[in-house]
Amino acid sequence: MSTEAHTPRSVLITGGNRGIGLAIAKAFAANGDKVAVTYRTPTDLPEGILGVQADVTDEGSIDRAFSEVEAAHGPIEVLVANAGITKDTLLLRMSEDDFTSVLDTNLTGAFRVIKRASKGMIRLRKGRVILISSVSGLYGAPGQINYSASKAGLVGLARSFTRELGGRGITANVVAPGFIKTDMTAELPEETQKDYLSRVPAGRFAEPEEVADVVRWIASDEAGYISGAVIPVDGGLGMGH
Ligand SMILES: NC(=O)c1ccc[n+]([C@@H]2O[C@H](COP(=O)([O-])OP(=O)(O)OC[C@H]3O[C@@H](n4cnc5c(N)ncnc54)[C@H](OP(=O)(O)O)[C@@H]3O)[C@@H](O)[C@H]2O)c1
Repeated sequence: MSTEAHTPRSVLITGGNRGIGLAIAKAFAANGDKVAVTYRTPTDLPEGILGVQADVTDEGSIDRAFSEVEAAHGPIEVLVANAGITKDTLLLRMSEDDFTSVLDTNLTGAFRVIKRASKGMIRLRKGRVILISSVSGLYGAPGQINYSASKAGLVGLARSFTRELGGRGITANVVAPGFIKTDMTAELPEETQKDYLSRVPAGRFAEPEEVADVVRWIASDEAGYISGAVIPVDGGLGMGH
């Protein structure tokens, strides 16, 4: 971590009430930033973290949540689009709703929040956008055609965003976690978990804090010249992409 004096920034993480999002919120709070998270399900949050209700599939609720955070902490300087869902099943069993609902949350949800955040960032002439993708986005995974498509889409989103707004002091990067120990992966059948583990060169799964530290760093001054990058945090699972 940089030891330079740090001006607290207004940081917002979507889906920050549990899992990777909560670990990211704690990392920014420990860094001295003013941290807010969105939640759908009311949860007890650690002291000092502001919770605002929002569903990323609903533009109106996003706008209300942003306004609440702006009133409390000032314009959002760091946005982490983390909210995500899976609806895994093989292609032939996947309904159109299984596909579009995952895209609506994971990809269109990210579009909605970066669009809302970019207004304030353009005015500030600085900002950091971090999109939480997945190793599945570029590596692929059976049963995840919907999820992989949504997560690969985030790469195009970050890169076009960078080409539009990179000259205004704003960066956008993608962090692509591998297998992280959260509710999302706990739901996977034991056989699937064993199969993943056998393919991870690091020989272990990761804790949410290992993703959070990378996100905090990519939003730091030290990483100010990195934009449009895909940063894997996957123990080597997806390397080569
Ligand atoms: N765990 C892994 O191994 C892994 C690997 C690669 C990528 N990722 C990605 O990392 C991110 C976080 O994953 P996780 O493992 O921490 O998942 P998780 O424990 O299942 O948490 C998901 C979070 O997203 C929120 N969310 C879901 N749909 C939402 C919506 N429509 N509007 C607002 N919030 C919504 C959830 O809110 P509620 O509590 O209200 O449901 C929750 O806070 C996801 O984008 C996931 O795809 C995870």
